[in-house]
Amino acid sequence: MKTCNSSEKKYDFNLEKAKTIASNLSSFSNEERLEIETKIQKKLKEQDAVMVTHYYVDNQLQDLTLATGGIVSDSLEMARFGKEHPAKKLVVSGVKFMGETAKILSPNKNILMPDLGAECSLDLGCPIEEFTKFCEQNPERTVVVYANTSAQVKARADWVVTSSCAIDIVKFLKIRNEPIIFAPDRHLGQYILNNTQADMLLWDGHCVVHDEFKAFELKEMKISLQGTVEVLVHPESPSGVIDLADFVGSTSQMLEYSKASNCKKFIVATDGGLFHSMRKASPDKFFIEAPTAGSGATCKSCAYCPWMAMNSLGGVLKSLETGCGEISVPKEIISKANKSLQRMLDFTKSNVSKN
Ligand code: 13P
Ligand code: SF4
Repeated sequence: MKTCNSSEKKYDFNLEKAKTIASNLSSFSNEERLEIETKIQKKLKEQDAVMVTHYYVDNQLQDLTLATGGIVSDSLEMARFGKEHPAKKLVVSGVKFMGETAKILSPNKNILMPDLGAECSLDLGCPIEEFTKFCEQNPERTVVVYANTSAQVKARADWVVTSSCAIDIVKFLKIRNEPIIFAPDRHLGQYILNNTQADMLLWDGHCVVHDEFKAFELKEMKISLQGTVEVLVHPESPSGVIDLADFVGSTSQMLEYSKASNCKKFIVATDGGLFHSMRKASPDKFFIEAPTAGSGATCKSCAYCPWMAMNSLGGVLKSLETGCGEISVPKEIISKANKSLQRMLDFTKSNVSKN
């Protein structure tokens, strides 16, 4: 594997700040929650707005999204739904790159987020200045970036991919003999490389949640659970963890796999937010969190993304009431980033089976 040397640089992800904000979010009694939900429903109707939500956010936000005609999905389907939905306004619950993607694909829509401080370590670990230099040092390579990047990085790219379509797109580029730069996730990059044998130069970023899953402990867990258990893994996880998987895929793909499988017990290596949809879809099945830390070590992630946890019902209501949390992306960035994102949507419409 060829990698760039971005790992020498240490980024300050300020996880503690996100964790503090998330832990200070108000918790509501059932009565208060119902009141907030009713207000949100009313505002959505009044403002011709729809909710676009990722699986990793709060369970109540996920349920309200579905009850009001929105979507809860992986990042590819969030992007597609947001673009195709006729509403004038999208309330995106997830992290900043998801809101920016919605804006790039629908520049005329008003895009709100419950908290604009909801970042992503992959996005933060791939600053545009360094990424531009990296691309300039390798001008012969096609630039493929993961959706978990800033609007500026997407504007510099030829293609955007998500974990649900990355292998198909890279296979397509390999057939065209295009050498590739892939950024920012090193584990997803390695996973794509192993599955395509494409000529890939990898950026050295990581997801602070998935990077914590541990292969040795996962193996032990599988043995201790005795009987038939399947391991589902998101490809942002380390290769040792991926090697133990019965299925590797995006959040939506893991959910679909768990629904279709005859197995009753699953160990799941991704953010714990996905368990809500998995348990609702298959109430007779058991879902167990994959281990995140070696024995004696301190659990840094506990498999919950601190930025995703910043999304709340209160935040959604506030943004609908005040207009705060609006996403804006400069026009020239929108027009460039739209090309690489639209390429992905066009490709997946005709080449990848829908989740
Ligand atoms: P998905 O596209 O699989 O939902 O992944 C998004 C993400 O941020 C995973 O950490
Ligand atoms: Fe980013 Fe990881 Fe959080 Fe997904 S789980 S949004 S990749 S930090």
